[in-house]
Amino acid sequence: MDHYCVLGNPVAHSKSPAIHARFAELTGQAMAYSKQLAPLDGFTATLQQWMANGGRGCNVTVPFKFEAFRLANSASERAMLAQAANTLKFGEGGQITADNTDGIGLVNDIQLNAGVKLAGRDILLLGAGGAAAGVLGPLLAAGPRRLVVTNRTHAKAVELVARHASHPSLRILLQKTELLAQEQHGLEANFDVIVNATASSLGGGAAPVDARVLKPGALAYDMMYGPAAKGFADWAQAHGALPRDGLGMLVEQAAESFAFWRGVRPPSVQVLQEMRKALA
Ligand code: ATR
Repeated sequence: MDHYCVLGNPVAHSKSPAIHARFAELTGQAMAYSKQLAPLDGFTATLQQWMANGGRGCNVTVPFKFEAFRLANSASERAMLAQAANTLKFGEGGQITADNTDGIGLVNDIQLNAGVKLAGRDILLLGAGGAAAGVLGPLLAAGPRRLVVTNRTHAKAVELVARHASHPSLRILLQKTELLAQEQHGLEANFDVIVNATASSLGGGAAPVDARVLKPGALAYDMMYGPAAKGFADWAQAHGALPRDGLGMLVEQAAESFAFWRGVRPPSVQVLQEMRKALA
């Protein structure tokens, strides 16, 4: 039996154990998956203990994704762009490989589950913290026409955009993606897809931008789910957009992590449907 876990603080609310247990069941993989609370100043020690106990890998959640990336011996390109990791795999001699599956989880949920294609579309990314950094590379890789990043603290949006300046999607001759940072008050109107990667909805707030950013029928995606996503969803709906919460992203990022560890793709659509039912 191979052991995996999610390391975080807090971690009690995590749905990852239930998702991975269901994936393992449906694919016939012999693995166990638990939650591990790491002290805020004790991520490295907790991780080392988990490895010493024979763990094969782990997910990493708030607030340790940056630390996890820095601790790894090697990392995927998307983890390097994000400078953060949500997935670690342990190899021979204690080698740690890092990946970040958050962005591909978001893109797969939008394109495959919600059925909204991103190629050639105009996308607005709200936020420039860890959650936004984790998804910008994969959003660019989907080939939008423009991708605008906006953030309460504008300098952070500028810095995040600068870090992605050499992304391959920005250099394709035909159908090149345009990536830019814009101040919240000077935003253009009519985006096809708006992704909320801010923590603003945690305070019950709507969206930190004017509703004219929403094209009629736009997809308004909140990376949160449950009650935390309600403020943004209500705001989107009131302005003629289609809200979607981050439950699908959660399941799809888990599916990518599972495939990275086990080499087997789990039936994520089925598990997402089961989770929606259970939450309803
Ligand atoms: P996470 O890892 O969840 O992204 P983070 O790195 O602390 O957490 O980033 C939080 C993001 O939410 C930031 O973009 C933050 O804006 P600032 O960079 O200006 O701090 C944004 N944010 C948090 N509260 C907000 C609010 N009330 N209105 C608008 N943006 C908010």
